[in-house]
Amino acid sequence: MSTASLARSKYASANRRWAGIGPYYAMFPIAFAERVIRRYTDVGDAVLDPFSGRGTAVFAAAALDRSGVGIEINPVGYVYTKAKLNPATRLAVEKRIVELDKNAWRYRQAAEAMPVFFHRCYSQRAREFLLTARNWLDWQGSRVDCTTMALLLVHLHGKRTDSLSNQMRQTKSMSPQYAVRWWTEQRLGPPDVEPVEFMKKKLDWRYAKGIPDLRESRVYLGDSVAVLPRVRQGLASLGTEKAKLLLTSPPYCGVTNYHYDQWLRLWLLGGPSAPTAPAGPHQGKFVDRTKYQQLLKKVFTASREFLGDDAVIYVRTDSRKVTLAATAAALRHAFPDKRMQRRRRPVVGSTQTELFGGESNQDGEVDLILK
Ligand SMILES: C[S@@+](CC[C@H](N)C(=O)[O-])C[C@H]1O[C@@H](n2cnc3c(N)ncnc32)[C@H](O)[C@@H]1O
Repeated sequence: MSTASLARSKYASANRRWAGIGPYYAMFPIAFAERVIRRYTDVGDAVLDPFSGRGTAVFAAAALDRSGVGIEINPVGYVYTKAKLNPATRLAVEKRIVELDKNAWRYRQAAEAMPVFFHRCYSQRAREFLLTARNWLDWQGSRVDCTTMALLLVHLHGKRTDSLSNQMRQTKSMSPQYAVRWWTEQRLGPPDVEPVEFMKKKLDWRYAKGIPDLRESRVYLGDSVAVLPRVRQGLASLGTEKAKLLLTSPPYCGVTNYHYDQWLRLWLLGGPSAPTAPAGPHQGKFVDRTKYQQLLKKVFTASREFLGDDAVIYVRTDSRKVTLAATAAALRHAFPDKRMQRRRRPVVGSTQTELFGGESNQDGEVDLILK
């Protein structure tokens, strides 16, 4: 199959187009999540993911007529998930984008006063538009605003000719100093994009096959340790008490800082205008092994309450010693009556971490399955 027809078949349905939202780090391939969900659950069952990232497992469950329940501490992953589980109509999103643009003049001065990074990354026009979006979009309270925000986050940075920004990686935000130095060396300036026209083209593609046909599902924003007790109401509102499958991939110890790596998208969601040291205990790189181990223990143990006796626990994790040992110990502690099976998943091509400049792991990942 040619690359073009491969891409066409990959995005042949609304579910496929929306599943890809949005650029994140260390994501499950959707086909993997679907395989596991099909194998261990039936239609109507619930699937729980307490470290849900951009919501791949939750979305796959919803697309397979199961209910998904996810918890994610990073607002970027949360907004992607919430938007793709329940997208607003194209008309409503387009109207909102036009409205933002009409009011962007109000942010002229604020856009002029932004730090140098923003001047080199975005045109004045794009800066005004983004500041309006940042101040006006109620992504927590409005479905239209959440969808609009998710789509802006997707295109906030990436290839210079295909995003709102100067040349950047799409998955990870670069450090401001590094980016400015690199753009200077490459003699690259911000693209002259017209935000409404640019976003309309992106909406054309995203909505071309409609919106996904999904079973009702939930995602919560916050630390799983604090949020898990609320899952009871979540499951009840979906017509069930217990989940049949816990499918997740926890953060890996010392590998990725999901907050630092998404600092620019977090800025658009209202965060600081430069990467900052982690604000909370689960927003860093998980370098403290004791705290890392405690987090996994607490989350898996608290999840047990929401799993049926015959539920399967499927955890994909890093095969490096510290993460693997901590994950296996936490799972044994939380589910002493289940038998744990270990399945090695060799590296196939480049890993996500390697592709985007993180520490590479030649040993790949491991699946821990408890039944
Ligand atoms: C390996 S990623 C999961 C990726 C996910 N499987 C996907 O396909 O997008 C781990 C996620 O756990 C989140 N996380 C870390 N600590 C958390 C906590 N205490 N509560 C909820 N989420 C947390 C991180 O922000 C990150 O998004």
